[in-house]
Amino acid sequence: MVDGRKRLAVIGFGAMARNLRASFRRSGGVFDITAALVTETSALDASEGEDLRVFHDPLALVAWKPSLVVECASHSAVRTSVPVLLRAGISTVIVSIGSLSDPLLRSELEAAAVAGNSRLTVASGAIGGLDVLRAARLAELSSVQYVGTKPPAAWRDTAAEMLCDLSSVSGRTIFFEGNAGEASRLFPKNANVTAAVALAGIGFEKTKVTLVADAQTHLNSHKVTACGAFGDFNICLNNEPLGQNPKTSRLAALSIEQAIMRHFELVEM
Ligand SMILES: NC(=O)c1ccc[n+]([C@@H]2O[C@H](COP(=O)([O-])OP(=O)(O)OC[C@H]3O[C@@H](n4cnc5c(N)ncnc54)[C@H](O)[C@@H]3O)[C@@H](O)[C@H]2O)c1
Repeated sequence: MVDGRKRLAVIGFGAMARNLRASFRRSGGVFDITAALVTETSALDASEGEDLRVFHDPLALVAWKPSLVVECASHSAVRTSVPVLLRAGISTVIVSIGSLSDPLLRSELEAAAVAGNSRLTVASGAIGGLDVLRAARLAELSSVQYVGTKPPAAWRDTAAEMLCDLSSVSGRTIFFEGNAGEASRLFPKNANVTAAVALAGIGFEKTKVTLVADAQTHLNSHKVTACGAFGDFNICLNNEPLGQNPKTSRLAALSIEQAIMRHFELVEM
C-alpha cells in the first residue's frame, strides 16, 4: 500500500508534469510529486519551486532515493537519464515513447533494468487498445496503419512547418506519409503514439503512418487500422488536448497516473 514514504519524482517539469502534480493535489494527496530533474536552463517560478526538490544531475536524484521516477520530458531525457536511474535500481515510467524507435537505446534500457533489478514501464500515453494489437500479432498481422490528426497549432515548432504552410491550412491537410521509424525521428514531440503502435504491432519499419493538420478540429485524433489472420479492427481516439500544451493529449497525462497506480498496485489489472 501507499504511504508517506513514497517519493515520486519527475524528469522534466512541463505541461504533463505540472498536470500530474495538480491532479494528485486535487485528489487529496495520496501521491505527490516532490522532486524534479530539470535542465540547468529550466525556469521554475518561485511558487512551483517551493516544495519541489530540484535536481540537474540524475546521480543527485539517485542519491535522493526516489520510489519511482516518471519521465515526461523528451527523447534526450530518456537517453541520458533513464539508463542511469534503472542501473541504480530506480524503477522508471517513460512517456516519450518515440525514443524507443532507436533499437540501441531499447537494448541499453533493458540491460540497465536487468543490472539494477528495476522496472521500466512504458506508459500507454495518448492511445489505447494496444493489448488487442499485441494479441493479434501472435498469429499474423498483415498491415498496421496509423493516422494522427491534430489542429495546425499542435504542429507548430515541428518538422511539419517545413512540410506545409500551417498558417494557410483551412481544412484537412496530409503533410507526412511514411513509416513509424521516420515519424518518431522527425516528430519527437508529436509522434509518440506511432512508436507505441509500432512496438505493440509489426515494428517501426512496417507500420505505415499518415500525419494530418486539420483546422476544423481542436482535438488530437489517433486512428489505428490493423488487418491480419485474426480479422481486422479500427481503434479511434479523439482526445482533448492538455491546456498548457496543444501537442499533448489529456489522456496521455492520465495514462501516467494510471501507470503510477499500477506500479504501486493500487488498481486492478
Ligand atoms: N506517449 C504519448 O502518447 C505522449 C503524448 C504526449 C506527449 N508525450 C511526450 O511526453 C513528453 C512531455 O510532454 P509535455 O507535454 O509535458 O512537454 P512540455 O514541452 O510541456 O514539457 C517537457 C519539459 O521537459 C523539459 N526537458 C526536455 N528535455 C529534458 C531533459 N533532458 N532533462 C530534463 N528536462 C527536460 C523541457 O524543458 C520541458 O520543460 C514529451 O517528450 C512528449 O513528446 C508523449
